Amino acid sequence: MDWDNLGFKLITTDYIYSMKCTEEGNFEQGRLSLHANIELSPAAAILNYAQGVFEGTKAHKKEDGGLLLFRPDQNGVRMKIGAERMCMPSPSVDQFVDAVKQTAIANRSWVPPSGKGSLYIRPLLMGTGGALGVAPAPDYTFLVYASPVANYFKEGLAPLNIYVEDEFHRASPGGTGHVKAISNYSPCLKALTRAKKRGFSDVLFLDSIHKKYVEELSTCNIFIVKGNQISTPATNGTILPGVTRSSIIEIARDYDYKIEEREIEVDEVMEAEEVFCTGTAVGVASVGSITYHTKR
Ligand code: COI
Repeated sequence: MDWDNLGFKLITTDYIYSMKCTEEGNFEQGRLSLHANIELSPAAAILNYAQGVFEGTKAHKKEDGGLLLFRPDQNGVRMKIGAERMCMPSPSVDQFVDAVKQTAIANRSWVPPSGKGSLYIRPLLMGTGGALGVAPAPDYTFLVYASPVANYFKEGLAPLNIYVEDEFHRASPGGTGHVKAISNYSPCLKALTRAKKRGFSDVLFLDSIHKKYVEELSTCNIFIVKGNQISTPATNGTILPGVTRSSIIEIARDYDYKIEEREIEVDEVMEAEEVFCTGTAVGVASVGSITYHTKR
């Protein structure tokens, strides 16, 4: 492996973990197997009705070769909440963490050396049984795969250039923006590809009612800094409660920053002293510029 040139591209590792679940919600004993494509009914609920949620977490290699996982229990809790919203049974938090651990250990030769990146671990829960009408699937599959990664953005650690999207929205009240539904991501693609073609790193979505409060980017949460005060949009139903987001809030409180989770108007972001983004894939990324209409 060329550990110095990892980006955020899929590199297939040796093992995946999978566990099947019946309609009654009983998960059978999960197992590791060699990474391979999976077989699905053309009528699978995940393919036809996007009944699925996913997670992202990372394993890091310590200098002594040991592995560190970053708060995987919080991803397990979030998957449970997401599964409930999508009418799916979900593994217990213990089953989830055990699956993540087994996947990390089985693929440990793919975890980059300390300081070169991490093993991105992707737990996926989906309705794999066929359902012609709109209804919860008759059976489900939980699987976990992994890929070694380094920086998410091609900019590396350079500050991001963000475009404020005011035509398309990521989420709306009562929808699924607060959970990691698979269906939350492809609707971002139109705005994202358009912005990327214009040289931006990512898009910042606005709320769909007033069209003036910032929500999050296609890949991560946002924070603004003014003096000793750090603010981030409140998790009010349209914002994903990021694990990195909550870690940053806890750390900032320990360092005596004043933290506010609230509505933030886009104009306030444009005037902030500093802006940064957080997410599992993204880590903590600083923002160099924000473009909103003709303002920058
Ligand atoms: C993550 O940060 O793990 C995500 O799921 C964001 C993304 C790459 C879709």
